[in-house]
Amino acid sequence: MARVFVTRRLPLEPRDVLGADADVVVFPEDRPPTRDELFRGAADAEGLVCLLSERVDGTLLDRCPALRVVANVAVGHDNIDLDAVRARGIVATNTPDVLTEATAELTWALILAVARRVIEGDAYVRGGRFTHWSPTLLLGTELSGRTLGIFGRGRIGDAVARRAAAFGMDVVHTSRSSGVPFEYLLDRADVLSIHAPLNEETRHAFDDAAFARMRRGAILVNTARGPIVDEAALVRALEAGRLGGAGLDVYEDEPRVHPDLLARDDVVLLPHVGSATTRARRAMARLALENVAAVLAGRPPKTPVP
Ligand code: 8YV
Repeated sequence: MARVFVTRRLPLEPRDVLGADADVVVFPEDRPPTRDELFRGAADAEGLVCLLSERVDGTLLDRCPALRVVANVAVGHDNIDLDAVRARGIVATNTPDVLTEATAELTWALILAVARRVIEGDAYVRGGRFTHWSPTLLLGTELSGRTLGIFGRGRIGDAVARRAAAFGMDVVHTSRSSGVPFEYLLDRADVLSIHAPLNEETRHAFDDAAFARMRRGAILVNTARGPIVDEAALVRALEAGRLGGAGLDVYEDEPRVHPDLLARDDVVLLPHVGSATTRARRAMARLALENVAAVLAGRPPKTPVP
């Protein structure tokens, strides 16, 4: 019976997808396994279902000689060393599409929260400071007529861009195959939203030079991967009043958050919940488990990492 190690409890019973033919072990704690716990759990597994918190590299794979499939419950796969996986004839899969709309919706939640100072307003009311109406209280940025810049118009970037018309915004974008040069995006965007994968090209794409080029008062939103932004440079740009604010769902060194970001009112911070709807997370879990079932049965998986 094939052994499958699942590194976290999922919003779905693995057996419901894998059936009784697999011997499934789910890491029982409500935290990521340590490296040693991962080594032990995956040691004799043929299938590994993992999350972005698990680093899947040559060291791990060398300790898991039976492994045939690594199924990431995420569309991003920067936690997986694909060369190491493929060199060993192991299949890697991810979970595209099923989280696209959820992540696009959360992106807009961040855009609106920063532009209209929603979190500050909530704190103001709860703090008992709403004692009278004021014509100058919590003035924000109006989106209508402004330009949304999409850094990386793949599936999620496209879903975010499609919603821009509802807010009367123009869209400019970069992508692998089309769009404007990066510098033009920086010059034009009033709201700049990041949707690229993390790789050597995109790491720290948003550095001091990029922020210096962005429009004064522009809003930066990141629901992709933290290291695409140089957080220290972002803090400098906010402190200098160059940017109007930022909405972040991801961080350079998760779950650590730059202390200077924590202290700022013009920044909205979320705990990496882009895909956190019941529907998306269940669909992601199902897809990852279906991929495992397919490979273990000798069939191609639905969504191999391209
Ligand atoms: C996941 C994500 O929740 O899919 C991704 O790439 O970042 C999120 O949707 C997270 O990666 C869990 O592994």
